[in-house]
Amino acid sequence: MQIIERIEPLRSALEAPRRAGSGIALVPTMGALHEGHLSLVDRARERAACVVMSLFVNPLQFGPNEDFARYPRDLEGDARLAEARGVDFLFAPQPAELYRSARSVSVVPASLASRWDGASRPGHFTGVLTVVAKLFNIVQPDIAVFGQKDFQQATLIRAMIRDLDFPIQLVVAPTVRETDDVALSSRNAYLRPTDRKRARLLSRALFAMRDAFDAGESSGEVLEAIGRRVVDPEAKVKVEYLAVMDPDTLEPATVATAGTIAAVAAHIGTTRLIDNIILGAPAPS
Ligand code: PAF
Repeated sequence: MQIIERIEPLRSALEAPRRAGSGIALVPTMGALHEGHLSLVDRARERAACVVMSLFVNPLQFGPNEDFARYPRDLEGDARLAEARGVDFLFAPQPAELYRSARSVSVVPASLASRWDGASRPGHFTGVLTVVAKLFNIVQPDIAVFGQKDFQQATLIRAMIRDLDFPIQLVVAPTVRETDDVALSSRNAYLRPTDRKRARLLSRALFAMRDAFDAGESSGEVLEAIGRRVVDPEAKVKVEYLAVMDPDTLEPATVATAGTIAAVAAHIGTTRLIDNIILGAPAPS
């Protein structure tokens, strides 16, 4: 695996695999790699001969009171994990390489960003789409792989690919969970042991909604109430949203059908966690 910090050397290094024509896949990350990220590499590998992982803690997508400064950074450890999993090129630029001068252009999402994480993190998705568009232009991959855990991000990237005509196939890979069903997240590292236990309530609430849906319940309101019954008794889990929504428009779903998303965001201690499931999809084994 080659670690490359600059745009031009990366472009040069990708000339040969591009000529070979057996596909370039991009896995964008902010590092602090865990099995969730590495499963994205597996999905990329299945579809392309050359796998590029980007590793960049993007300042543009963090709000002023968010965790940009303390976001876990471990280039050496991440590089070991990426290489062992079969990444060919690790693109790890410094901020000055990606944001070289005053920027006058950003990719600003429309209504899809107005709810859920977009509502509580103003500017977040502008930061995400801007950096992802830059990575798409730098790497020019055939395939890009993102995780389902960030469902709103995946929906917005699908919309950006369509609306800005990026010739890229989007792959959204399933969420990887710990043995106790907590969704893997780099931010789990912030949780104190008691809060880590409380984090289990998020997936439990979603799974209760899924079980009710599987048993025939389709009212969005009733499904939300079922999820709430799991999390609300724990006062230290501060739910920001717990909702069922259409996977494409992200509008709240009054009637859930197969493919409807059940999603939650909550603050546990000082950590904000998100999770979601697709109703009607096979239960995780
Ligand atoms: O999902 C993430 O880790 C980030 O939002 C991404 C897509 C790498 C953009 O910085």
